[in-house]
Amino acid sequence: MQSAGRRERHEGIPLGESVTITDNRTGKSIEVPIVNGGVDSSEWAKLLPGVWFYDPSFGNTASTSSAITYLDGEEGVLRYRGYPIEQLAEKSTYLEVAYLLIHGELPTPVQYEEWKHQITTHTYIHEHVRKRFLEGFHYDAHPMGMLTSSIAALSTFYPEAKDIEDPANRMRQIIRLIAKLPTLAAGAHRYSVGMPFVYPDNNIDFQTNFLSMMFRVAEPTFECDPRLSRALDILFILHADHEQNCSTTAARVVGSSQADPYSAMAAACAALYGPLHGGANEAVLRMLTEIGSYDNIDAFIESVKAGKGRLMGFGHRVYKSYDPRAKIIKQAAYDVFEVTGKNPLLDIALKLEETALNDPYFIERKLYPNVDFYSGLIYQAMGFPVEMFTVLFAIPRVSGWLSHWQEMLEQKSRIARPRQLYTGVDERDYVAINARQ
Ligand code: SDX
Repeated sequence: MQSAGRRERHEGIPLGESVTITDNRTGKSIEVPIVNGGVDSSEWAKLLPGVWFYDPSFGNTASTSSAITYLDGEEGVLRYRGYPIEQLAEKSTYLEVAYLLIHGELPTPVQYEEWKHQITTHTYIHEHVRKRFLEGFHYDAHPMGMLTSSIAALSTFYPEAKDIEDPANRMRQIIRLIAKLPTLAAGAHRYSVGMPFVYPDNNIDFQTNFLSMMFRVAEPTFECDPRLSRALDILFILHADHEQNCSTTAARVVGSSQADPYSAMAAACAALYGPLHGGANEAVLRMLTEIGSYDNIDAFIESVKAGKGRLMGFGHRVYKSYDPRAKIIKQAAYDVFEVTGKNPLLDIALKLEETALNDPYFIERKLYPNVDFYSGLIYQAMGFPVEMFTVLFAIPRVSGWLSHWQEMLEQKSRIARPRQLYTGVDERDYVAINARQ
């Protein structure tokens, strides 16, 4: 079919929006269309059987197509299902954003009320999860280790979750996971500080209920300044998804074997734990505490430039400009500090950012503050212990992981199984132990 004025090829892709690959060993070439910003590997595999494109950390590889989140690293753009993160942070709520990520559209008022009801009535965890898992950990267990293990343990309480082909069954597990993450997280914290477990309160909103499970002591009901619960809601919105990051990729890879969603989410949680990923917010606070004063900033920056450690909370695989989330979090910090008083580490963080943004080492490498640089200052001011910071990342990110898990299944994805470039030794015969030198 020819459209007026433009020759078309490959189902409507204009000629020229393609690449040509030539195998110089044979002189054969193939033209591959560029579709949605990528070229399909199955095309070049026909020309180059057994020749793999080497991309060890997937920095230049699209592992999937997705309609959930859009990033533009150069322009600092982040959109969930087409909605700019700035608008969602200002006008939406985390539960509404979770619905948007999972269902693809903002909910109607009726849908939103039903969604909130479903989440609210699934916040409880089985008593054995608390008594035999959470309370079975060592007294100083890190809450991320407790959370990761408890999520995996939930797979044994809901064996029907293995039926990943049934959309209604998938949705039941999605609702359970979104609802129970705060309860597991708060339960891990309460155990680690020797406080009694606080059961969910179905009469308050999602984030206030989490704060209640975290901090309520003897008062019959928990109350907090609405500016704090709103700040937490905004932080949950900002952390809800971020396309094919390390932990989401883990969720998709494990889910592609058709493992149950609890096992896939536990894998994602384990990936998030790393200091290069979700563990960075905890690492930032420890870094700022270690720097301790203005006087030490220049020496610290020089140590980073000398390769002795990294400026945690800076840099990003995709964003080569200011992480749009960091801008919003920085503003939210001032709102929180109006209630809690300023976190004394803020001045060090601001001076560190100013110094780095004016230093050629960071400018040349396009290193800017990311989502983790300021978030910990808010969490600490709100009373969360540093060990809980990555847990606070995992709570909302489970909505993103689940939306990608569901999309991967709906795409009928094959099991993830990359290839390798073998660089080991050639075949050789076994040598008996007494003949070995
Ligand atoms: C998150 O992927 C996502 O979307 C993640 C996330 C999400 O929402 O899911 O956005 C959340 O994980 C944010 C990132 C949190 N991590 C940190 O803040 C840890 C510190 N940052 C880095 O270690 C690093 O920037 C990464 C891990 C975030 C990105 O690493 P890349 O893309 O693999 O970059 P790289 O390690 O190849 O670094 C390129 C250069 C190197 O220098 P040279 O070897 O070229 O001389 O930049 C340097 C690095 O040494 N560099 C840093 C640095 N980050 C990169 N130098 C000092 N401090 C840093 N933070």
